[in-house]
Amino acid sequence: VSGLKAELLRLIAEDGPIPVSRFMALCLGHPRHGYYLTRDPFGAQGDFTTAPEISQMFGEMIGLWAAHLWQAMGAPARFALVELGPGRGTLMADMLRATRIVPGFHAAASVHLVETSPVLRDVQAATLSGKAEPAWHDRVGTALDGPVIVIANELLDALPVDQFVMTKAGWCERLVGLDGEGGLAFGLAGQVLPAGTSLQMRGEEGAVLEQPAAALDLVSEIATHVARSGGGALFIDYGSLQSGFGDTLQAMRRHQFVDPLTELGEADLTVHVDFARMVQTALQAGAAVQGPSLQADFLLALGLAERADALCRNATPDQARAIGAAFDRLTERGETGMGDLFKVLALSHPGLPPLPGFDLHRLPEQG
Ligand SMILES: C[S@@+](CC[C@H](N)C(=O)[O-])C[C@H]1O[C@@H](n2cnc3c(N)ncnc32)[C@H](O)[C@@H]1O
Repeated sequence: VSGLKAELLRLIAEDGPIPVSRFMALCLGHPRHGYYLTRDPFGAQGDFTTAPEISQMFGEMIGLWAAHLWQAMGAPARFALVELGPGRGTLMADMLRATRIVPGFHAAASVHLVETSPVLRDVQAATLSGKAEPAWHDRVGTALDGPVIVIANELLDALPVDQFVMTKAGWCERLVGLDGEGGLAFGLAGQVLPAGTSLQMRGEEGAVLEQPAAALDLVSEIATHVARSGGGALFIDYGSLQSGFGDTLQAMRRHQFVDPLTELGEADLTVHVDFARMVQTALQAGAAVQGPSLQADFLLALGLAERADALCRNATPDQARAIGAAFDRLTERGETGMGDLFKVLALSHPGLPPLPGFDLHRLPEQG
């Protein structure tokens, strides 16, 4: 029995079944046994691959988007460049390389990384060594100071959600309890939520509704700051454009889906992001919102195809094939293609002009 499994079994035996959000938070963030606190999970040898790890072009496009936003902000002499959940630090390194050509951007930027994993903090420090002197934060609040540009790729999907199931009697919370055979099982809370609580959507019997409280709080905090102090934020994640029902909790280990209740602390746990609710929350907090766009549309509008062509011109045939394959993967369409599955949402101070990458706005030619 793994350390985390033993702890969960004891905790539930003593205190009773726990909410899905607590289960997710412990699997991902337990201080000793949590998934992200014990490993570098990226790449072919790891559990999953993210867009910045597929190609440098991803971070380069986002870097140019950030530079455009900074210019739209009036090129402030100081601003905080904040990344949430920076993984291996690759996205930030690529952003910084792409923005070297933008006069004044690096001198104005102070780099802040919000990261809970000490293992990944070390990887980030190594990746960014000689390129930036980041300050690390446990929570976003301490990184939000003055005008900001906030970037988060695949962070919202790692934040815990609660789940509710529609029964004949009303919404019941889904809990993680014991299966009686030494393992864990999903069950329902005995009590039905009173009508008029925040779960106003009506579902058919068996429908599952997810409440992404942590992600909504984070988006609200950033939107409030941006509306007050200037700047903007970009969230990229897989998820849906419209709110709906469904259990989206999934576990991935070594690039395969596994049962979320078995490989405790050894598999990545994520949910699909409900972008419609993120938009609503950001607007309520006073920010302007653009998107969500499909990742493929966003990257193509920023000039991904032109960048791939430019890189291919100086590449060997093997390198050119790799660049082509990365381009295809980042923009692949269809239900499982990254280009359609991933969405991009921008928040900004309401006084700023529309930002590039959404609809027909394109970046101006760079030097
Ligand atoms: C799926 S990885 C994405 C990494 C990176 N953005 C990329 O695209 O390669 C999630 C990242 O978020 C971090 N993380 C997870 N939960 C977090 C939390 N509550 N606060 C800050 N960082 C968190 C993880 O340690 C990891 O760096």
